[in-house]
Amino acid sequence: MCGIVGYVGHRPASDLLLDGLSRLEYRGYDSAGIAVVEDREIAVRKRRGRVAGLIELIESHPVEGSIGIGHTRWATHGDPSDVNSHPHLDESGRVVLVHNGVIENHDRLKARLSETGCGFRSSTDTEVVAQLIGWHLEQFIESGHAADDPETCWSALRATLDELEGTYGLGVLFRDCPGHLWAARCGSPLVIGVGEQEYFLASDTSPLIGYTRDVVYLDDHDTARLGRDEIEVRHRDVGTRDVAVQTIQDEAVDVELGEFPHYMLKEIYEQPDSIRSAMRGRMDGDDATAVFGGLNADAGELRRIDRIVLTACGTSWHAGLVGEYLIEEFARIPTEVEYASELRYRNAPLTDTTMVFAITQSGETADTLAAVRECRRKGHKTLAICNTVGSTIAREADGGIYLHAGPEIGVASTKAFTSQVTVLALLALYLGRMRHMSFRAGEAFLESLEAMPELVARTLECHDAVREVARRFADCGNFLYLGRQYNFPVALEGALKLKEISYIHAEGYPAAEMKHGPIALVDERTPSVFVTPRGGVYEKVVSNLEEIKARGGPVIAIAGPDDERIAGLVDEVIPVPDVPEFLQPLVTSIPLQLLAYEVALLRGCDVDRPRNLAKSVTVE
Ligand code: G6P
Repeated sequence: MCGIVGYVGHRPASDLLLDGLSRLEYRGYDSAGIAVVEDREIAVRKRRGRVAGLIELIESHPVEGSIGIGHTRWATHGDPSDVNSHPHLDESGRVVLVHNGVIENHDRLKARLSETGCGFRSSTDTEVVAQLIGWHLEQFIESGHAADDPETCWSALRATLDELEGTYGLGVLFRDCPGHLWAARCGSPLVIGVGEQEYFLASDTSPLIGYTRDVVYLDDHDTARLGRDEIEVRHRDVGTRDVAVQTIQDEAVDVELGEFPHYMLKEIYEQPDSIRSAMRGRMDGDDATAVFGGLNADAGELRRIDRIVLTACGTSWHAGLVGEYLIEEFARIPTEVEYASELRYRNAPLTDTTMVFAITQSGETADTLAAVRECRRKGHKTLAICNTVGSTIAREADGGIYLHAGPEIGVASTKAFTSQVTVLALLALYLGRMRHMSFRAGEAFLESLEAMPELVARTLECHDAVREVARRFADCGNFLYLGRQYNFPVALEGALKLKEISYIHAEGYPAAEMKHGPIALVDERTPSVFVTPRGGVYEKVVSNLEEIKARGGPVIAIAGPDDERIAGLVDEVIPVPDVPEFLQPLVTSIPLQLLAYEVALLRGCDVDRPRNLAKSVTVE
């Protein structure tokens, strides 16, 4: 939530900052702004709305300088207005900063600063930080410290951070110490890019692509000072610390739209490849099992596990629910999926033989991170199933499995879901094969999985049928999504996709449960989307479908190929290939992603930047 960029070097900062903000816009798009310091003057340009608007502003009001910071905002405190946009200056104009996170004690700090006569312009928690740094700076200067001495700036920054409660990633410039850019991290991610006589600062690695692959990840309670030729990182308790430069791999590269009009569509169409990548190198035909390089758990330890907790938020939680069904069916290990925001506070009784997996695309979701920390604090091995290499959760977990899906930019998650399901299927196979699962069953499992990329590619051929359905129902105000067993999480995910990007109210339910309430919503303007491919619960789902039809509700069915029976019963059919039941989510989720996409287009919604949402939710 909120994206931060910074630059110090030899090139015009504003170009680099705007480029970086465009790539971070998925983190929030309520407003955008930059500040550049040159000849001891701070120039700020900011405005409500998209980065494109800021680019226009800077074209007409350019800023010069080769050191600067930038921000794209997802509003938490204060409405999305020009004045609440970042960067924020202190009253004296000596300090300017950008912030990602939430300062929980901002009210108290603001009251105290106001008593000293400090005037606030915005209603943000962030301005309090700028004003507080300015206030401490003033105290240090009054007691004889030089304003242009970096040590004075460090001291003012440190004194401020010691007073803050909450989370922050900060990029800070001091007018009188113009060759340096400061950063500070507690709870909100920051990464430094190391170039040739230049340094970059960013919330994640996407703005660094094309500039450098060498990075330094900041940890909580780190502060950093970047000059054109130097970097210094200090940790709160230990002072200056060694800087470990890591090289990021190729997979962070493809962030271009190419021939697609939206990232969401591009990512939907990438799924045959992203599923293939999730399986690559992990299928062991000789032993009919899966292999994972980074679990950091030996076979003895894995055999002792008698309970698994999967924790996640949003779409990742839905993938976790598929995981619960997979692991219980194939590995026979009792598994539950917990919302991270619940797990972190409810003191769940985990035992020494419980293993926790956090599932997260971004690796930065605040609640998931907090749940990971809480479980680790209590001594439980906590592994991550994560897409973003080098993200906070990937780094803090005891081990894990990367999705290798490539960057997911569309705010509504699509390819991450199917990659998560693929990895969870492999995990179920792996845990099953070290228990009771036979070689033959393992072989059949692998064979089915191997066929999936091709089957998912064929599933995408339903796009035209989906377009028709979207045209017919796009103006409805409510949808029900219904499925059983492996397709119950798919129903939840389908409903979430529609809500997220087309702003239509939708509910996902286990198909049989609709009799216990949601059926009261059924009328001729409330379509029910039934996920009903052939399988063990097919007959049961068909009965549920007839119950809806009997009450005059339109029915859209996601059904197997040539399913005449369903075709004769429902209003619209979207065909998907037949696949084994446990892998059905990989195909049945695809038409639901496309349906949400097409409906959103017809309703004129901004598919890649849905209102009020952000890709990476780094606040509680
Ligand atoms: C946000 C995103 C969702 C995502 C959820 C969890 O709400 O908009 O698409 O599923 O966060 O994110 P994570 O990165 O932890 O999977």
